[in-house]
Amino acid sequence: MDIDVFTLFPEWFDWFERQRHVANALAAGHALGYVSYRDHSALSGRQVDDTPFGGGAGMVLRVDVVEAALRARYGRDPVAERESRRIVALTPGGRLLDDKLVSELAAEPRLTLLSGRYEGFDERIVEHFATDAVSIGRYVLAGGELAAMVVCDAVIRKLPGALGHEDSAVEESFSAALGGAPEYPHYTRPAEHRGWTVPEVLLSGHHERIREWRAEQSRRRGAGGD
Ligand code: ADE
Repeated sequence: MDIDVFTLFPEWFDWFERQRHVANALAAGHALGYVSYRDHSALSGRQVDDTPFGGGAGMVLRVDVVEAALRARYGRDPVAERESRRIVALTPGGRLLDDKLVSELAAEPRLTLLSGRYEGFDERIVEHFATDAVSIGRYVLAGGELAAMVVCDAVIRKLPGALGHEDSAVEESFSAALGGAPEYPHYTRPAEHRGWTVPEVLLSGHHERIREWRAEQSRRRGAGGD
């Protein structure tokens, strides 16, 4: 998979790339690229944003700067480019990211993530260049970079070669394998701590009973039970 992140702060991703599952995915042939909006501004001081028409607080990312950045990367009109790749604008009011959307994005051969400023993309960016508007939650971050990292992290975990154990992303919280329910509880050594014990069934070595117990726990959690 080929992921491009458009951002004001490409250096923030240096840390992200050093994380093991990300490094594994890159070593397995997946690619992460970065485009700095500032490198594509023709304005003085390499300005990328401006005050909103109609007044109000905050700055808005400019449509001309984003167009120039997309054109430089893909060598054609971004309106045409969005026919051949998923271009996601990260914005607090977008479609909420969940496991289904993550799986959908992870199945794409190419993905572009556009970070914005606070809440602010010029709406024409979302309307004409993006295929999707995605939110990681109904709160406002200072920019879309952390949201882009969250999307990348969740997507990359699903790629073959990213996790040590091939199955570990299959039967996890909210996955189809668990019917969209949260995962069952986990325990490890010691089997007793301050008198708090581990459910007996998990120590039984009885795989069928363990499977049933986990499925039941997952169902209960999904139903809003304990
Ligand atoms: N940019 C700022 N806040 C955001 C959020 N909650 N989700 C996605 N992008 C954002």
